[in-house]
Amino acid sequence: MKIGILSSGGDCPGINATIRGVGKAAMTYGMEVIGVLDGFSGLMFNDYIQLDERQLSGILTLGGTILGTSREKPFKKKEGDLIADKPQMIKQNCAKMGIDCLVCVGGNGTQKTAAQLSGIGLNVVGIPKTIDNDVWGTDVTFGFDTAVNIATEAIDRLHSTANSHKRVMVIELMGHHAGWITLYAGIAGGGDVILIPELDYNINKVNEVLMERSRKGKPYSIVVVAEGIKTGKKEGMPAGAYIAEQIEKETKIETRVTVPGYTLRGGSPSPLDRIIATRMGTYAASLINQQDFGKMVALHHNEMTSVPLKEVGGKLRLVPHDHFLIKQAKRVGTFFG
Ligand code: F6P
Repeated sequence: MKIGILSSGGDCPGINATIRGVGKAAMTYGMEVIGVLDGFSGLMFNDYIQLDERQLSGILTLGGTILGTSREKPFKKKEGDLIADKPQMIKQNCAKMGIDCLVCVGGNGTQKTAAQLSGIGLNVVGIPKTIDNDVWGTDVTFGFDTAVNIATEAIDRLHSTANSHKRVMVIELMGHHAGWITLYAGIAGGGDVILIPELDYNINKVNEVLMERSRKGKPYSIVVVAEGIKTGKKEGMPAGAYIAEQIEKETKIETRVTVPGYTLRGGSPSPLDRIIATRMGTYAASLINQQDFGKMVALHHNEMTSVPLKEVGGKLRLVPHDHFLIKQAKRVGTFFG
């Protein structure tokens, strides 16, 4: 049996650990492994490399993806597309490359494409990855823990400088639709205000909370915001900049913004992400060995399992309004807007 692995969509720490997990485990079943380059583009242009023990060694701790990635969505027609029927071309190329099963490592968009490829008759297994932790059907994605660690360290470092200058520090974290990173890092870093896309906020109330803190003699405040929160009439303005502007205007407290941006996605995966990636990768290989295709591997209550790809596509796992962490954070005085 020959399997092809690809990574697609935004990268995150732990992809290489996953490729290693799938590849090494697949080899123990006697499978041949190739790596398709640059996501689904590689399938359109027959761009791939042979993966053997050598390529899979020493990549457990490596950030990024040795296979490259792209945001190519073959089922979405774009103006100027040179290839008339990308899905059919992919199907033919998979046959040409001799791929018996395709392993798609990616977030929501990738899992949707994986489901569609499975729908046109390819054998596919999906593995969920994203720092946003918003893939439906799994309790957690690898990449998230590393991102929370980096974001928390950034918040930790804001406390002392905020204190020296008696400022409000706004930090904007990644997460367009889902506020998981902001929720976890916000709580771990002791944010005074946490704003996530799932919860509506009232900027006047945020300002009241900050002024009340100042009246009580608290020298500074930390406001942690997800990039995807609404920015009122200033649509298009970065969330952190918008919130900082509103705070400074109303409270007259000097306010600064920090955006760690892509640092959350870069570099070596945390030990936990290496473990999740290895578990997911090796589990994917065992699904393939059992010819159990059309599935995405998932973690449920810390047990490896799988969910049908067609159930995953097009859904998002968002922070529930009554999430236990929100309730607990409120009990220590954190304000959610
Ligand atoms: O999917 C993860 C994510 O990091 C989002 O949080 C972020 O908004 C997005 O990717 C941006 O990625 P890119 O600029 O690579 O499209």
